[in-house]
Amino acid sequence: MKITFYGHSCFLIETGTHRLIIDPFLTDNPDAAVAAKDVKVDHVLVTHGHEDHTCDVLEIAKANDATVVANFEIAEYFGAKGAKFHGLNPGGGFTFPFGRVKLTIAHHSSSLNAGLNPIYMGSPCGIVLEAEGKRIYHAGDTALFLDMQLIGRAGLDLAILPIGDNYTMGPADAIDALDLLKPKVAVPMHFNTWPPIAQDAAAFARAAADRGHKVEVLKPGTSLTV
Ligand code: NI
Ligand code: MN
Repeated sequence: MKITFYGHSCFLIETGTHRLIIDPFLTDNPDAAVAAKDVKVDHVLVTHGHEDHTCDVLEIAKANDATVVANFEIAEYFGAKGAKFHGLNPGGGFTFPFGRVKLTIAHHSSSLNAGLNPIYMGSPCGIVLEAEGKRIYHAGDTALFLDMQLIGRAGLDLAILPIGDNYTMGPADAIDALDLLKPKVAVPMHFNTWPPIAQDAAAFARAAADRGHKVEVLKPGTSLTV
């Protein structure tokens, strides 16, 4: 599987036969590595409702006739707007043509249009993707939680974790998360997009290495293969 970072929490996943995007936030993202109109995928995976994870879901899903895979409320929301959709909820998994997606818990919130008239968008989630014999975890936006040790128990080839602090766990908690998840390699996300989540990813990688964890920092537009 090839994993390409598009900035913030957005990743393109390429298997031998399928192309998936997770948390498309491109149009309003100052670090976006690609334009939404240039994304070619067959599935759009979404962790939670916040605009920095969903702003390009509908455009990409409709332009590609792609299926939105997300929690029940998000899937139904984009379905009502004309996208193909498949709803799941935390603890539930489904085997798609490309592999298996299971949603995990995440400790966060999940709404659209936060402010006077927020729309409730169900439980925030993380995603465990199993494809081509590999198992990867995209944590979404979350605080550190002890149940991460259950997610890591079956082995992880890759864990993608937020390190930005402020809205999610910061670097110190992300290293504690690595102690629980024990992935072969970890990639940080959800940092440096705006000043409140500015972080030194290289320092995070060094601190993680001191605890025995391999971290690969991807610049937007770059990839790794697991
Ligand atoms: Ni969020
Ligand atoms: Mn976010």
